[in-house]
Amino acid sequence: MSKKLKVVMTVKLPDGVETRFRELFNTTLWLNKNPMPREALLDAAQTAEVLVSSINDRIDEAFFEAAGEQLKMIANFGVGHDHIDIAKAVEKGIIVTNTPGVLTEDTAEMTMGLIIAVSRRFIEGAETVQRGEFSAWSPTFLMGRRIYGKRLGIVGMGRIGQALARRARAFGMQVHYHNRKPVSARISEELEATYWDDLDQMLARMDVVSINAPGSPSTFHLLSAERLALLQPHAILVNTARGQIVDEEALAHLLKANRIAGVGLDVYERATAISPELFGLPNAVLLPHMASSTVEARTDMGDRVILNIKTLQDGHRPPDRVIPAML
Ligand code: DGY
Repeated sequence: MSKKLKVVMTVKLPDGVETRFRELFNTTLWLNKNPMPREALLDAAQTAEVLVSSINDRIDEAFFEAAGEQLKMIANFGVGHDHIDIAKAVEKGIIVTNTPGVLTEDTAEMTMGLIIAVSRRFIEGAETVQRGEFSAWSPTFLMGRRIYGKRLGIVGMGRIGQALARRARAFGMQVHYHNRKPVSARISEELEATYWDDLDQMLARMDVVSINAPGSPSTFHLLSAERLALLQPHAILVNTARGQIVDEEALAHLLKANRIAGVGLDVYERATAISPELFGLPNAVLLPHMASSTVEARTDMGDRVILNIKTLQDGHRPPDRVIPAML
Protein backbone atom coordinates (compact mmCIF):
# COMPACT_ATOMS: atom_id res chain seq x y z
CA MET A 1 0.00 0.00 0.00
CA SER A 2 1.35 3.46 -0.92
CA LYS A 3 2.18 5.91 1.84
CA LYS A 4 -0.69 8.27 2.63
CA LEU A 5 -0.15 11.80 1.34
CA LYS A 6 -0.40 14.72 3.75
CA VAL A 7 -3.45 16.61 2.54
CA VAL A 8 -4.45 20.01 3.95
CA MET A 9 -7.90 21.37 3.15
CA THR A 10 -8.61 25.10 3.00
CA VAL A 11 -12.38 24.65 2.72
CA LYS A 12 -15.15 22.91 4.61
CA LEU A 13 -16.56 20.15 2.39
CA PRO A 14 -19.72 18.01 2.81
CA ASP A 15 -19.29 15.60 5.75
CA GLY A 16 -19.32 12.43 3.64
CA VAL A 17 -16.56 13.79 1.40
CA GLU A 18 -14.45 14.77 4.40
CA THR A 19 -14.83 11.33 5.92
CA ARG A 20 -13.58 9.73 2.70
CA PHE A 21 -10.61 12.11 2.73
CA ARG A 22 -9.73 10.97 6.24
CA GLU A 23 -9.99 7.31 5.20
CA LEU A 24 -7.72 7.69 2.19
CA PHE A 25 -5.18 10.35 3.12
CA ASN A 26 -3.39 11.87 6.08
CA THR A 27 -5.89 14.74 6.02
CA THR A 28 -6.10 17.94 8.03
CA LEU A 29 -9.67 19.18 7.66
CA TRP A 30 -10.69 22.84 7.69
CA LEU A 31 -13.84 22.80 9.79
CA ASN A 32 -14.51 26.53 9.81
CA LYS A 33 -17.28 27.76 7.46
CA ASN A 34 -15.17 30.84 6.69
CA PRO A 35 -12.26 30.53 4.26
CA MET A 36 -8.78 29.83 5.58
CA PRO A 37 -7.03 33.13 6.45
CA ARG A 38 -3.99 34.09 4.37
CA GLU A 39 -1.49 33.40 7.14
CA ALA A 40 -2.80 29.87 7.68
CA LEU A 41 -2.72 29.33 3.91
CA LEU A 42 0.95 30.28 3.76
CA ASP A 43 1.64 27.95 6.70
CA ALA A 44 -0.17 25.15 4.87
CA ALA A 45 2.11 25.75 1.87
CA GLN A 46 4.99 24.65 4.10
CA THR A 47 3.45 21.46 5.44
CA ALA A 48 1.03 20.05 2.88
CA GLU A 49 1.97 17.59 0.18
CA VAL A 50 -1.42 18.27 -1.38
CA LEU A 51 -3.44 21.42 -0.76
CA VAL A 52 -7.18 21.21 -1.40
CA SER A 53 -8.00 24.79 -2.34
CA SER A 54 -10.98 26.79 -3.51
CA ILE A 55 -11.78 30.06 -5.22
CA ASN A 56 -11.43 31.78 -1.82
CA ASP A 57 -7.66 31.23 -1.78
CA ARG A 58 -5.16 33.41 -3.61
CA ILE A 59 -2.65 30.86 -4.88
CA ASP A 60 -0.31 33.49 -6.25
CA GLU A 61 3.40 34.07 -6.65
CA ALA A 62 3.83 34.83 -2.92
CA PHE A 63 2.12 31.53 -2.09
CA PHE A 64 4.49 29.60 -4.33
CA GLU A 65 7.48 31.50 -2.87
CA ALA A 66 6.33 30.39 0.60
CA ALA A 67 5.77 26.78 -0.47
CA GLY A 68 8.15 24.12 0.82
CA GLU A 69 9.78 21.39 -1.29
CA GLN A 70 7.16 18.89 -0.02
CA LEU A 71 4.25 20.55 -1.90
CA LYS A 72 3.38 18.35 -4.88
CA MET A 73 -0.12 19.34 -5.89
CA ILE A 74 -2.89 21.94 -5.61
CA ALA A 75 -6.16 20.04 -5.96
CA ASN A 76 -8.75 22.73 -6.58
CA PHE A 77 -12.32 22.14 -5.44
CA GLY A 78 -13.97 23.79 -8.44
CA VAL A 79 -13.54 24.01 -12.17
CA GLY A 80 -12.40 27.66 -12.45
CA HIS A 81 -8.72 28.16 -11.67
CA ASP A 82 -8.31 31.88 -12.29
CA HIS A 83 -7.24 32.33 -8.64
CA ILE A 84 -4.20 30.11 -9.20
CA ASP A 85 -0.98 31.30 -10.84
CA ILE A 86 -0.67 28.29 -13.14
CA ALA A 87 2.54 29.51 -14.81
CA LYS A 88 4.22 29.77 -11.40
CA ALA A 89 2.96 26.31 -10.44
CA VAL A 90 4.47 24.87 -13.63
CA GLU A 91 7.76 26.67 -12.97
CA LYS A 92 7.85 25.14 -9.48
CA GLY A 93 6.88 21.68 -10.78
CA ILE A 94 3.66 21.67 -8.75
CA ILE A 95 0.66 19.93 -10.33
CA VAL A 96 -2.69 21.78 -10.39
CA THR A 97 -5.95 19.87 -10.82
CA ASN A 98 -9.57 20.99 -11.01
CA THR A 99 -13.03 19.37 -11.19
CA PRO A 100 -14.32 19.67 -14.76
CA GLY A 101 -17.55 18.11 -15.99
CA VAL A 102 -19.22 17.36 -12.66
CA LEU A 103 -20.93 20.74 -12.15
CA THR A 104 -21.94 21.41 -15.74
CA GLU A 105 -25.64 20.54 -15.44
CA ASP A 106 -26.03 22.31 -12.10
CA THR A 107 -24.52 25.54 -13.42
CA ALA A 108 -26.61 25.37 -16.59
CA GLU A 109 -29.74 24.81 -14.48
CA MET A 110 -28.97 27.84 -12.36
CA THR A 111 -28.30 29.96 -15.44
CA MET A 112 -31.61 28.96 -17.01
CA GLY A 113 -33.29 29.66 -13.68
CA LEU A 114 -31.79 33.15 -13.57
CA ILE A 115 -32.90 33.88 -17.14
CA ILE A 116 -36.47 32.98 -16.18
CA ALA A 117 -36.32 34.69 -12.77
CA VAL A 118 -35.22 37.97 -14.33
CA SER A 119 -37.53 37.80 -17.37
CA ARG A 120 -40.59 36.77 -15.35
CA ARG A 121 -39.80 38.88 -12.27
CA PHE A 122 -39.94 35.95 -9.82
CA ILE A 123 -38.16 37.69 -6.98
CA GLU A 124 -40.35 40.79 -7.07
CA GLY A 125 -43.44 38.53 -7.11
CA ALA A 126 -42.19 36.35 -4.24
CA GLU A 127 -41.33 39.39 -2.15
CA THR A 128 -44.77 40.90 -2.76
CA VAL A 129 -46.40 37.77 -1.33
CA GLN A 130 -43.96 37.54 1.60
CA ARG A 131 -44.74 41.15 2.54
CA GLY A 132 -48.46 40.28 2.62
CA GLU A 133 -49.18 42.69 -0.24
CA PHE A 134 -50.89 40.29 -2.63
CA SER A 135 -54.45 41.58 -2.41
CA ALA A 136 -55.96 40.87 -5.84
CA TRP A 137 -55.05 39.44 -9.22
CA SER A 138 -54.31 42.23 -11.65
CA PRO A 139 -53.84 42.06 -15.42
CA THR A 140 -51.10 44.66 -15.36
CA PHE A 141 -49.17 43.73 -12.22
CA LEU A 142 -45.52 42.63 -12.59
CA MET A 143 -45.65 42.00 -16.32
CA GLY A 144 -42.42 40.35 -17.40
CA ARG A 145 -41.20 39.20 -20.78
CA ARG A 146 -41.83 35.81 -22.39
CA ILE A 147 -38.62 33.89 -23.12
CA TYR A 148 -40.21 31.56 -25.70
CA GLY A 149 -39.09 32.61 -29.18
CA LYS A 150 -36.39 34.97 -27.89
CA ARG A 151 -32.75 35.02 -28.93
CA LEU A 152 -30.17 33.86 -26.40
CA GLY A 153 -26.54 34.84 -27.02
CA ILE A 154 -24.10 32.61 -25.15
CA VAL A 155 -20.61 34.03 -24.60
CA GLY A 156 -18.39 30.94 -24.24
CA MET A 157 -19.67 27.70 -25.73
CA GLY A 158 -17.81 25.13 -23.63
CA ARG A 159 -19.47 22.39 -21.60
CA ILE A 160 -21.65 24.75 -19.56
CA GLY A 161 -22.56 26.96 -22.53
CA GLN A 162 -23.71 23.89 -24.45
CA ALA A 163 -25.68 22.51 -21.50
CA LEU A 164 -27.42 25.89 -21.24
CA ALA A 165 -28.11 25.90 -24.98
CA ARG A 166 -29.89 22.50 -24.67
CA ARG A 167 -32.13 23.88 -21.95
CA ALA A 168 -32.79 27.08 -23.87
CA ARG A 169 -33.85 25.06 -26.93
CA ALA A 170 -36.33 23.17 -24.75
CA PHE A 171 -37.80 26.53 -23.71
CA GLY A 172 -38.20 27.57 -27.34
CA MET A 173 -35.30 30.04 -27.45
CA GLN A 174 -33.05 30.51 -30.46
CA VAL A 175 -29.44 29.86 -29.64
CA HIS A 176 -26.63 32.14 -30.78
CA TYR A 177 -23.07 32.03 -29.47
CA HIS A 178 -19.67 33.64 -29.52
CA ASN A 179 -16.63 31.48 -28.93
CA ARG A 180 -12.98 31.39 -29.95
CA LYS A 181 -14.01 28.86 -32.60
CA PRO A 182 -17.28 27.32 -33.73
CA VAL A 183 -18.47 24.10 -32.10
CA SER A 184 -18.48 20.91 -34.18
CA ALA A 185 -21.03 20.60 -36.97
CA ARG A 186 -22.80 17.85 -35.02
CA ILE A 187 -23.30 20.04 -31.93
CA SER A 188 -24.17 23.07 -34.00
CA GLU A 189 -26.91 21.11 -35.79
CA GLU A 190 -28.22 19.57 -32.58
CA LEU A 191 -28.53 23.02 -30.97
CA GLU A 192 -29.53 24.80 -34.18
CA ALA A 193 -27.00 27.36 -33.01
CA THR A 194 -25.79 30.44 -34.89
CA TYR A 195 -22.10 31.29 -34.52
CA TRP A 196 -20.86 34.89 -34.28
CA ASP A 197 -17.13 35.43 -34.56
CA ASP A 198 -17.75 39.12 -33.86
CA LEU A 199 -19.00 39.52 -30.28
CA ASP A 200 -20.17 43.11 -30.83
CA GLN A 201 -22.41 42.03 -33.67
CA MET A 202 -24.01 39.33 -31.56
CA LEU A 203 -24.54 41.48 -28.45
CA ALA A 204 -26.44 44.13 -30.39
CA ARG A 205 -28.98 41.57 -31.62
CA MET A 206 -29.80 39.43 -28.56
CA ASP A 207 -32.74 39.49 -26.16
CA VAL A 208 -30.81 37.59 -23.49
CA VAL A 209 -27.03 37.31 -23.08
CA SER A 210 -25.41 34.70 -20.85
CA ILE A 211 -21.74 34.69 -19.85
CA ASN A 212 -20.32 31.17 -19.75
CA ALA A 213 -16.64 31.76 -20.50
CA PRO A 214 -13.78 30.99 -18.11
CA GLY A 215 -12.12 33.78 -16.16
CA SER A 216 -8.65 34.59 -17.52
CA PRO A 217 -6.60 37.65 -18.49
CA SER A 218 -8.02 37.33 -22.01
CA THR A 219 -11.65 37.47 -20.81
CA PHE A 220 -11.14 40.29 -18.27
CA HIS A 221 -13.79 42.96 -19.05
CA LEU A 222 -14.66 41.16 -22.25
CA LEU A 223 -17.99 42.88 -21.66
CA SER A 224 -16.52 46.34 -21.36
CA ALA A 225 -18.55 49.53 -20.96
CA GLU A 226 -18.45 50.00 -24.75
CA ARG A 227 -19.69 46.49 -25.41
CA LEU A 228 -22.40 46.62 -22.74
CA ALA A 229 -23.70 49.79 -24.37
CA LEU A 230 -24.43 47.72 -27.50
CA LEU A 231 -27.14 45.72 -25.69
CA GLN A 232 -30.74 46.49 -26.62
CA PRO A 233 -32.87 48.30 -23.98
CA HIS A 234 -35.10 45.23 -23.52
CA ALA A 235 -32.11 42.84 -23.18
CA ILE A 236 -31.17 41.02 -20.01
CA LEU A 237 -27.70 39.83 -19.03
CA VAL A 238 -26.93 36.80 -16.90
CA ASN A 239 -23.51 35.89 -15.50
CA THR A 240 -22.82 32.60 -13.71
CA ALA A 241 -19.17 32.37 -14.85
CA ARG A 242 -16.74 34.93 -13.43
CA GLY A 243 -17.46 38.50 -12.34
CA GLN A 244 -14.29 39.94 -13.84
CA ILE A 245 -15.60 39.23 -17.35
CA VAL A 246 -18.09 42.10 -17.03
CA ASP A 247 -17.34 45.74 -16.16
CA GLU A 248 -19.63 45.73 -13.14
CA GLU A 249 -19.77 49.48 -12.61
CA ALA A 250 -20.70 50.08 -16.24
CA LEU A 251 -23.35 47.36 -15.94
CA ALA A 252 -24.88 48.90 -12.81
CA HIS A 253 -24.91 52.28 -14.52
CA LEU A 254 -26.78 50.92 -17.58
CA LEU A 255 -29.25 49.12 -15.38
CA LYS A 256 -29.98 52.18 -13.24
CA ALA A 257 -30.48 54.26 -16.36
CA ASN A 258 -32.92 51.61 -17.71
CA ARG A 259 -30.71 51.14 -20.74
CA ILE A 260 -31.02 47.37 -20.28
CA ALA A 261 -33.99 45.53 -18.82
CA GLY A 262 -32.43 43.38 -16.12
CA VAL A 263 -29.51 41.32 -14.85
CA GLY A 264 -29.10 38.00 -13.10
CA LEU A 265 -25.73 37.69 -11.41
CA ASP A 266 -24.20 34.84 -9.41
CA VAL A 267 -20.65 36.25 -9.54
CA TYR A 268 -19.15 39.70 -9.07
CA GLU A 269 -16.10 41.56 -10.24
CA ARG A 270 -14.63 41.86 -6.73
CA ALA A 271 -15.97 38.60 -5.23
CA THR A 272 -18.16 39.55 -2.25
CA ALA A 273 -17.46 43.33 -2.53
CA ILE A 274 -20.46 43.89 -4.80
CA SER A 275 -20.91 47.31 -6.44
CA PRO A 276 -23.35 49.11 -4.10
CA GLU A 277 -25.15 50.59 -7.14
CA LEU A 278 -26.55 47.09 -7.82
CA PHE A 279 -28.36 46.92 -4.49
CA GLY A 280 -32.02 47.81 -4.29
CA LEU A 281 -32.65 47.62 -8.03
CA PRO A 282 -35.83 45.60 -8.68
CA ASN A 283 -34.49 44.34 -12.02
CA ALA A 284 -31.27 42.88 -10.54
CA VAL A 285 -31.46 39.31 -9.28
CA LEU A 286 -28.30 38.85 -7.23
CA LEU A 287 -27.20 35.44 -5.97
CA PRO A 288 -24.26 34.47 -3.72
CA HIS A 289 -22.10 32.39 -6.12
CA MET A 290 -24.22 29.26 -5.78
CA ALA A 291 -24.46 27.89 -9.32
CA SER A 292 -22.83 24.57 -8.43
CA SER A 293 -24.41 24.40 -4.99
CA THR A 294 -26.33 21.15 -5.17
CA VAL A 295 -25.75 18.12 -2.96
CA GLU A 296 -25.00 16.14 -6.10
CA ALA A 297 -22.47 18.54 -7.62
CA ARG A 298 -20.64 19.24 -4.38
CA THR A 299 -20.36 15.51 -3.67
CA ASP A 300 -19.18 14.77 -7.20
CA MET A 301 -16.66 17.64 -6.98
CA GLY A 302 -15.32 16.10 -3.78
CA ASP A 303 -15.09 12.68 -5.44
CA ARG A 304 -13.21 14.24 -8.35
CA VAL A 305 -10.70 15.88 -6.01
CA ILE A 306 -10.27 12.55 -4.23
CA LEU A 307 -9.71 10.74 -7.54
CA ASN A 308 -6.98 13.19 -8.50
CA ILE A 309 -5.17 12.89 -5.16
CA LYS A 310 -5.55 9.09 -4.99
CA THR A 311 -4.11 8.79 -8.49
CA LEU A 312 -1.08 10.83 -7.41
CA GLN A 313 -0.77 8.78 -4.21
CA ASP A 314 -0.75 5.60 -6.30
CA GLY A 315 2.12 6.95 -8.39
CA HIS A 316 0.23 8.00 -11.53
CA ARG A 317 -0.61 11.26 -13.27
CA PRO A 318 -3.88 12.76 -12.00
CA PRO A 319 -6.54 12.94 -14.73
CA ASP A 320 -7.67 16.57 -14.27
CA ARG A 321 -4.35 18.36 -14.56
CA VAL A 322 -4.63 21.98 -15.63
CA ILE A 323 -1.99 22.40 -18.26
CA PRO A 324 -0.88 25.75 -19.67
CA ALA A 325 -1.89 24.73 -23.21
CA MET A 326 -5.49 24.77 -21.95
CA LEU A 327 -5.27 28.42 -20.86
C1 DGY B 1 -16.15 26.74 -9.99
O1 DGY B 1 -16.18 25.52 -9.90
O2 DGY B 1 -15.40 27.34 -10.75
C2 DGY B 1 -17.06 27.52 -9.09
O3 DGY B 1 -17.30 28.79 -9.60
C3 DGY B 1 -16.46 27.64 -7.70
O4 DGY B 1 -15.14 28.02 -7.83
